[in-house]
Amino acid sequence: MRVIIVILVIAELSLAMAETGTGSGTFNLINLGSVDGKNYFYDKTRRTWQASRDFCIESGMELATIETPKQAEFLKSKYNYSTFSGFYKLGGRDALLARQFTWDSSGTAATDIVGLNWRVDPGYSEYLTCVSYYSNIIPVFNIVGCEVESFVLCQT
Ligand SMILES: *[C@@H]1O[C@H](CO)[C@@H](O)[C@H](O)[C@H]1NC(C)=O
Repeated sequence: MRVIIVILVIAELSLAMAETGTGSGTFNLINLGSVDGKNYFYDKTRRTWQASRDFCIESGMELATIETPKQAEFLKSKYNYSTFSGFYKLGGRDALLARQFTWDSSGTAATDIVGLNWRVDPGYSEYLTCVSYYSNIIPVFNIVGCEVESFVLCQT
């Protein structure tokens, strides 16, 4: 038993070292599963919106979108206080028009038809804002400055 534990620890250490070496950090991505033919993955390293976007692309994915009630329900069902909770960058940002959010990958407008309410982080009411998903018992689309660091949600 002890031997197995030692081997696991070594395996984990070498993963951590490989990660530091490449700087990609893809080892931390956690698969939430699939809905509507796409897969959601999250990573709990804090990054700006731009760095989150780069991270998803380097991992062969893109920043996630939430475009149907089914996708919103799926993510809500994955809420877990100790694992999948908190703020996760999504692929939505404003087009220098207050409160007009567009999904980066499709160019379509982010709307409230998915059943998520919008919440504005205090102090970020105008432009250069990005959309995060707030994973909680009652999840919301959170609007915050793009430079603010938080976790990330990618999709394939
Ligand atoms: C939340 O995640 C932890 C750690 O993986 C797990 O032990 C626990 O059962 C999960 N809770 C729920 C409600 O799924």
